[in-house]
Amino acid sequence: MRTIAVLGATSGIAQGCLREWVAGHDPSTGRLTLRLIGRDRTRLERVAADLGARSAEVEVTTALHDLTETTAVSQAVDAVFADGPVDVVMVAFGTMPTQQDADADPAVAADLLTVNGTLTLLAAHLATLRLLEQGSGALAVIGSVAGDRGRRSNYLYGAAKAMVATGVAGLQHRTAGTSVAITLVKPGPTATPMTDHLRGGRLSLAKVETVAGDIVRGVEGGRPVVYTPRRWRLIMAVIRLLPRPVFERTSL
Ligand SMILES: NC(=O)c1ccc[n+]([C@@H]2O[C@H](COP(=O)([O-])OP(=O)(O)OC[C@H]3O[C@@H](n4cnc5c(N)ncnc54)[C@H](OP(=O)(O)O)[C@@H]3O)[C@@H](O)[C@H]2O)c1
Repeated sequence: MRTIAVLGATSGIAQGCLREWVAGHDPSTGRLTLRLIGRDRTRLERVAADLGARSAEVEVTTALHDLTETTAVSQAVDAVFADGPVDVVMVAFGTMPTQQDADADPAVAADLLTVNGTLTLLAAHLATLRLLEQGSGALAVIGSVAGDRGRRSNYLYGAAKAMVATGVAGLQHRTAGTSVAITLVKPGPTATPMTDHLRGGRLSLAKVETVAGDIVRGVEGGRPVVYTPRRWRLIMAVIRLLPRPVFERTSL
């Protein structure tokens, strides 16, 4: 018997991970229960039906939560743990309005910072407290390579992801020496609905399957940080080290 829960389960990356977990499930260990949290009933039910159809050993439950403020996040984490222990929690919700949209409307900028920063870290924090209470489990939080250095093209989104990275480092420190493992995931640009507007541009988008495979292996292996695709670890190391005068001449 194994239970995996996802906040933001209709995310392209989360769906890829869930498909990996279903495909890799060993039926001799009992049933696999998936607890899916999303905000759009139709999309959530479509994802649940797809996953449920992939294996007779899979049971899927869903709960609707629009994660736009503290109470909603708190209630969603309560829902995740309401029916018993959870082996893996994934925090996958997020938005990526363009910098231009954020420039045009302060409310868009504030919402971007809140959803991707404050509420994501709050969800990770609350889930960690519950995992510590139950004594074991894994948490995967999706950050981004964008959090590694502020760039003019998306520094608000990057700042929110940097907040999550710092918070997750603190949670990892807090859970060190326990049976709770926390993984910070840093995807590079990946082909999901979030990046539809970048398709066909100069940036190459990773396949969801590649990213999901890296994430699931990283979580199962208890890795603290997963860059995916892996080359992004090196790319971001170089970008972080670029001297300011050189960096400011780039169009990143
Ligand atoms: N794609 C990339 O290039 C990339 C790169 C680095 C990091 N990431 C991160 O990866 C995570 C997953 O993104 P993705 O690429 O899979 O994009 P996606 O397919 O657009 O997924 C984003 C998900 O977040 C959900 N969501 C947004 N606001 C929400 C809210 N207030 N309450 C509940 N759910 C909410 C969306 O729900 P709806 O389906 O209802 O809209 C959607 O399921 C995000 O944290 C993103 O920042 C993505």
